[in-house]
Amino acid sequence: VRDAIVILAQSGRALAQAARRAGLRPYVADLFGDEDTRGVAKSYRPLKGALGGRLSRTSALQAACELAHLSGHRLLGVLLGSGFEGTPALVAELASEHRLLGADAAVLARLKDPLRFEMLLAELGIPHPPVSLSPVPRPEEWLSKRVGGSGGGHIGPAHRWAPHKGQYLQKRVAGRPVSVAFLANGLNCEILAYTEQWTAPSRSAPFRYGGAALPAAVEMALAVEMAAAIRAIVRETGLRGLASADCLVDENRWWLLEVNPRPGATLDILDRCPTALLSRHIAACAGHLGSREAAPPGAAAIEIVYAKRTIPAAPSLDWPDYVADRPRAGSRIAAGAPICTVMAEGPNAGLARQVLQQRSAGVRGALERKGHEDEWGRFAPKRECSGRTAC
Ligand SMILES: Nc1ncnc2c1ncn2[C@@H]1O[C@H](COP(=O)(O)OP(=O)(O)OP(=O)(O)O)[C@@H](O)[C@H]1O
Ligand SMILES: [Mg+2]
Repeated sequence: VRDAIVILAQSGRALAQAARRAGLRPYVADLFGDEDTRGVAKSYRPLKGALGGRLSRTSALQAACELAHLSGHRLLGVLLGSGFEGTPALVAELASEHRLLGADAAVLARLKDPLRFEMLLAELGIPHPPVSLSPVPRPEEWLSKRVGGSGGGHIGPAHRWAPHKGQYLQKRVAGRPVSVAFLANGLNCEILAYTEQWTAPSRSAPFRYGGAALPAAVEMALAVEMAAAIRAIVRETGLRGLASADCLVDENRWWLLEVNPRPGATLDILDRCPTALLSRHIAACAGHLGSREAAPPGAAAIEIVYAKRTIPAAPSLDWPDYVADRPRAGSRIAAGAPICTVMAEGPNAGLARQVLQQRSAGVRGALERKGHEDEWGRFAPKRECSGRTAC
């Protein structure tokens, strides 16, 4: 039986745990090397690159080779998470050496090149904000973005923008962020969930990704339109696997911002059905969508906890179950960097978010305010580790 999978991503933890739920052995490379990632991975390799930016070509190619070799003859293929959206050439290189489980380089290039994507949406009649590669007359009505960027940290106001390679402008539109998670087989798709998104603005990154909750309240008529648009994109591009479409929804209008042709930040809270989502992802990549499964009732939410100030050495903590992407004891977390991820469930999205906020505050308190750990019982430090460097 082929039961190993190589995972390359900015953060591979969610994919690695999803692989375990699907009965697979994950071989993982990512930027963080968190405690739980290393705990769940059969083997781990660090990747080089910038969070929200590009991953180093050589480190990705090398890690894929080493991990594929280690996994032996039972390797199913290589799964790419976030971080490859801006480098279709690297994805093509990886595909020439390994079997990729997900969108191929051609699909990626078509979806992540702003002008080609805009053309695709225009052809299919899908509402979207206009984009521009050159300065615009009223820049205050536009945002600047990095091609292939993720995590929202690359988005800023366009008023002082000078055109440069790898950046583009997108017109601002109104509305609340809703992301549609779906599973595609190249011809058709199944909508898995509508999730609401929020930002965690910092001074330098006003649109930095905060978190997401499901289900999002979306009017039936709009939900049907959004699903039809996604189906048309899948049919036109041949997109396969787990993916998501980021939208803005304003009363009875909506706009499609982007398609993420890969499993995304909501994987943890989506994977609650009897069949593991990663098994469905792999089947969908082979063309099989399978049958729809009812999601469990209730709501779930997930968010990233960012460090407000630098944490010189993360303490060794007895982490509660709802904390993921746990920093290794002793690792330095720079101000503005993610500390970890927190999850919560509840009868509805609002209540799940309330619990989430309390948990995030508790985590930040335990890590940022030395000596205040007792405020939050479960966060009693086991031992103080210092002098260990981050991986
Ligand atoms: N054209 C726009 N008009 C208004 N708000 C926007 C626009 N584009 C992006 N935003 C805001 O920024 C957020 C992230 O946008 P987008 O999905 O394009 O970037 P991203 O880097 O992929 O971020 P994420 O990883 O959070 O999806 C949106 O949810 C929305 O709040
Ligand atoms: Mg997005």
